[in-house]
Amino acid sequence: MTETPTAEPRWVFGYGSLIWHIDFPVLATRPARLRGWARRFWQGSHDHRGTPDAPGRVVTLVPDGTAVCVGAAHQVEAATFAHLDRREKNGYLQLTVEVETSRPAERIQATTYVAAASNPAFLGPAPLDAIAAHIHRAAGPSGGNAEYLLELDAALRRLGAADAHVACLAVRVRELRGERAASRR
Ligand code: SIN
Repeated sequence: MTETPTAEPRWVFGYGSLIWHIDFPVLATRPARLRGWARRFWQGSHDHRGTPDAPGRVVTLVPDGTAVCVGAAHQVEAATFAHLDRREKNGYLQLTVEVETSRPAERIQATTYVAAASNPAFLGPAPLDAIAAHIHRAAGPSGGNAEYLLELDAALRRLGAADAHVACLAVRVRELRGERAASRR
């Protein structure tokens, strides 16, 4: 009888909900940095934080030569990608990237999920106030869009890597929720 060879574990680089919403088995996790990409709330969500009629806004990566996107690299069994592919649908496609981990000089090949500008759910840029208002009102099967934003902001702060785009949106959404006195003019 021949044994089926077991595929080697692989790494997935998460920069959005894959940092803080871990609904899959993980062998190891390390903070990681991806150079040349910026995290932006430019992707529409029809399936998690919105609906087809009222999409939410979630993060994708956009090319930016000067940017460094901090996230989390998770080592997972190869079979876990079946779950990740189902979860990260609605415009996201796998991309292989090289990330720097928190270990000195360590570079690893990781799969990340990127929703390109060509996908039908892509919403693209908008003024921050408009994005915040959109996130404030949207909700989908996975919960409120604001929860997604605020959990991501908190997770990035725990990593010591607050992201200005995310943090500015979080301030605005908290204002809209009446959680904090307006802190800007
Ligand atoms: C990611 O987290 O890496 C992809 C986007 C998301 O699921 O929020």
